[in-house]
Amino acid sequence: MRRSLVMGNWKMNGRRDQVQALFTALEDQLASFSAVEMVVCPPYPFLALVHDRQRETSGIGLGAQNVSMYSDGAYTGEVSGEMLRDMGCEFAIIGHSERRLLFSETNEVVAKKFIRARDAGLVPVLCVGESAADRDANRTEEVIAAQVLAVFQDGGREVFRQAVVAYEPVWAIGTGRAASPAEAQKVHAFIRKTVAARDPEAAATLRILYGGSVKAQNARELFAQDDIDGGLIGGAALNAVEFAGICRAACGAN
Ligand code: PGA
Repeated sequence: MRRSLVMGNWKMNGRRDQVQALFTALEDQLASFSAVEMVVCPPYPFLALVHDRQRETSGIGLGAQNVSMYSDGAYTGEVSGEMLRDMGCEFAIIGHSERRLLFSETNEVVAKKFIRARDAGLVPVLCVGESAADRDANRTEEVIAAQVLAVFQDGGREVFRQAVVAYEPVWAIGTGRAASPAEAQKVHAFIRKTVAARDPEAAATLRILYGGSVKAQNARELFAQDDIDGGLIGGAALNAVEFAGICRAACGAN
């Protein structure tokens, strides 16, 4: 049995006051959802603020949106996995499509970040997904296999044992056009099969989240699919009522 996981990716949004208000609203909204694991990923400058608040309450976990491919040292501007762990993060989003596209993160860089996050004691959340052009050219499985296999290549056969995967079709992110539940399920099953071919034990327990225009209104049907174990939520995570609606849908899917 895989416990549902719903993660809010706040991206580069908010100011101190807004972050405080959002977290307060989330605490109010999410008090009764113990059946689902909930995590928020604020921008780096607000991690401490959220962690201080979160320590008093408990129900909501903390994650980072990115991690350096290096450990501590002379890397100006970078933030190491060890620092993030020290700040109370448990999870780190790795290889989000915005990082891949806007910051030129290749499969090899993403694999290095994944391993660094894991070695620092964080749960890496590997984002995979095809572009609209890949999809139109029928290359979805090829692209996703390469994204997953790069991590196996660097980390070995058991690399997905303490990890999460998020399937986020690039064409669905921030567009309001989510993948259909059947479409998403097909890719999730493919991801699980790809991991199972190397490590059946990891594949059985691996949580595979769907991300890309998830809203309270479409979450239930997505999360009802066999291989969809929760969501990675962008825009809707900035609205406490909407995020709570998504978490409620995940409770029902458990
Ligand atoms: P979205 O973003 O929910 O706004 O589509 C998802 C993500 O980028 O993780």
